[in-house]
Amino acid sequence: MKSSFNAVAFATSALLLALYASPSASAPAQSTTVTSPSPLTCGDPSDAVPLYITDSPGQTFYYTILNTDVDALIGPYGYSFLGIAARVFPTQELSTVPFFHVQNDQTVDNFYTTSATARDNALENGYVNSSTGIAAYIYTSEICGSVPFYELYSTAATEHFYTINETDYDAKLASGAWTDEGIAGYVLDFDSC
Ligand SMILES: *[C@@H]1O[C@H](CO)[C@@H](O)[C@H](O)[C@H]1NC(C)=O
Repeated sequence: MKSSFNAVAFATSALLLALYASPSASAPAQSTTVTSPSPLTCGDPSDAVPLYITDSPGQTFYYTILNTDVDALIGPYGYSFLGIAARVFPTQELSTVPFFHVQNDQTVDNFYTTSATARDNALENGYVNSSTGIAAYIYTSEICGSVPFYELYSTAATEHFYTINETDYDAKLASGAWTDEGIAGYVLDFDSC
């Protein structure tokens, strides 16, 4: 009996040793989870609403889901209505995060970010929260049929611009007036329903 107990103990420690000695054994399972998100982790695309873009020429681009904002801007403030930039979620849905909105009334700029750190940094450098503080809710990775929302910045105009349109994005970069600020987040295309 004694030798049989020893055999079990030996087999158990050999198994534990094998598990601990090969950290890569668990890696494939993890990457499978990341690259194949379940549809259950997506927001409901039928809840998504248009994110409108308005422009005060040479001053600032203003993105909002609120019709009241659009009316106020193109009325008293003389902004132009440029259309729909993307579709986004009006409330937080699965896998989405706040798309913070801060504005600088001195330089006249609207800045949008999913990063609370970047938002806080802007708040310490002349920006204040917009009336809602959060413009919408969006994804932080390219999941659930979302597309990149590219961010550009013009130092001369102190102006942020966001677009899903790669032609627009390339043209602005080629003009030399805009610098690439990366991808602000991932939104739904405005013409895929
Ligand atoms: C993207 O932008 C270009 C240039 O402004 C425009 O001609 C084109 O129609 C846009 N594409 C879409 C899908 O809106």
